[in-house]
Amino acid sequence: MTEPVVVLIELDETLLLGLLEAAVADADPLEVMPPVAGPPGWTTERREAFLEFHRRRSLRQETAIEKTYVIEVDAWPVGAARLEKVPGGVEAGIWIGRSQRGRGVGKLAAAELLELAKADGAERFVASTTEDNLAARKLLTGVGADLTVRGDGVEAGLDLR
Ligand SMILES: CC(C)(COP(=O)(O)OP(=O)(O)OC[C@H]1O[C@@H](n2cnc3c(N)ncnc32)[C@H](O)[C@@H]1OP(=O)(O)O)[C@@H](O)C(=O)NCCC(=O)NCCS
Repeated sequence: MTEPVVVLIELDETLLLGLLEAAVADADPLEVMPPVAGPPGWTTERREAFLEFHRRRSLRQETAIEKTYVIEVDAWPVGAARLEKVPGGVEAGIWIGRSQRGRGVGKLAAAELLELAKADGAERFVASTTEDNLAARKLLTGVGADLTVRGDGVEAGLDLR
């Protein structure tokens, strides 16, 4: 199998609708944003919440707290990654659409995300996941992070200095 060509592009308003489409087509709402009350699935409320989540956290200058990157494979949005400044470093997050998982996209995107964090001068790269999320744990150890289990949670950390 040929290695996918993975590119991270900083999110903007134009890319946001494509990212929503990718999430709706290929991910569970809980994998890509905080819980929103209501019946399961991509309800109108959840679609609006997804847009507002990214506008508030990344696109609206007055409220932005993180940079979000659209993950593209062959120029097609398949997921997103984020870097949020936290005390002592940056916190990373990533999701890939289900149909694209398990073929190395996450690994390539995580490596690129790490480079973006370094280029931004971050001193430490941190991320958290759950104990049962084997793919995320492998992804994080794959970039060289140390994992610490805390209850059901797993904290990952990597010094970048
Ligand atoms: C975590 C996630 C981003 C991984 O993306 P991916 O494209 O599937 O990852 P890759 O194909 O690059 O695989 C990365 C590693 O995980 C392993 N892996 C992938 N899916 C796996 C699974 N279901 N179970 C166990 N290991 C798995 C791969 O073998 C690879 O390990 P290796 O480095 O030893 O070869 C993806 O599963 C996802 O979006 N999950 C939902 C959101 C999420 O949990 N985000 C993480 C929060 S930090």
